[in-house]
Amino acid sequence: MASQSFAHAIVRPPGPTFAQGLTRFDLDRPNLALARAQWEAYSRALETCGLTLTRLEPLTEFPDSTFVEDTAIVTARGAIVSRPGAPSRSGEVEAIRPALLAHFPDLAAIGAPGTLDGGDICDADGHFLIGISARTNPEGAAQLQAWLEARGDTAAAIDIRDRSDILHLKSGISYLGDNRLAVIPALADHQALRRFERVVTAPDEAYAANCVRVNERVLIAAGFPGFEARLTDLGYRPIVLMMSEFEKMDGGLSCLSLRIP
Ligand code: GLY
Repeated sequence: MASQSFAHAIVRPPGPTFAQGLTRFDLDRPNLALARAQWEAYSRALETCGLTLTRLEPLTEFPDSTFVEDTAIVTARGAIVSRPGAPSRSGEVEAIRPALLAHFPDLAAIGAPGTLDGGDICDADGHFLIGISARTNPEGAAQLQAWLEARGDTAAAIDIRDRSDILHLKSGISYLGDNRLAVIPALADHQALRRFERVVTAPDEAYAANCVRVNERVLIAAGFPGFEARLTDLGYRPIVLMMSEFEKMDGGLSCLSLRIP
């Protein structure tokens, strides 16, 4: 099965202030020890997929900093640091810059007044779906689109500002390779997605739509047997991971790493 291949990933464990991070949910506060255990299992899964990891230090001053994906967009042709839409997260970008510069000396940046979270950007083998959301504004999306197109990639915007059920675009879609997307029912018929074969999650399995194709495997959240069976039937080999503590903090599997070709 074909997809972009990855060799490396940057990850950062949840820090001591993890439970003080941003969340739209009124769920129990996360258990830090369990979050750390789930993060370790996630990191080991990336290694199982063949990636070498840069494991950064936890950051007390940025509770959401384990969600490293939001700080940058990494493509097959370069990388650009984001400008997070939540003020409490803005400092995460400088904190990750050295790790990115080790791979991308020519690192670009989204500039004001643009805001953009990496979780709103879905790379479908060089065609980028850019969510305009509570975090990513039209100016940030336009800057990213121009940067991508200058490198020969293509992009399309998807406005999710009217959707209260997802924080980021990738809360509701993931690219599976093979011109195929996992997608929540509410986005399944969006015009920008019609070029893809779509694996639509059941309404009660919407959280499963945030999954991560990594080389020959797909990381999926535990607790969604219908989605797991669909992927298996399609020939994928899922790795099932517990995500309860990150779900409480409005995060998913893709948020926990920056994957590098
Ligand atoms: N807790 C993830 C975010 O809100 O950015």
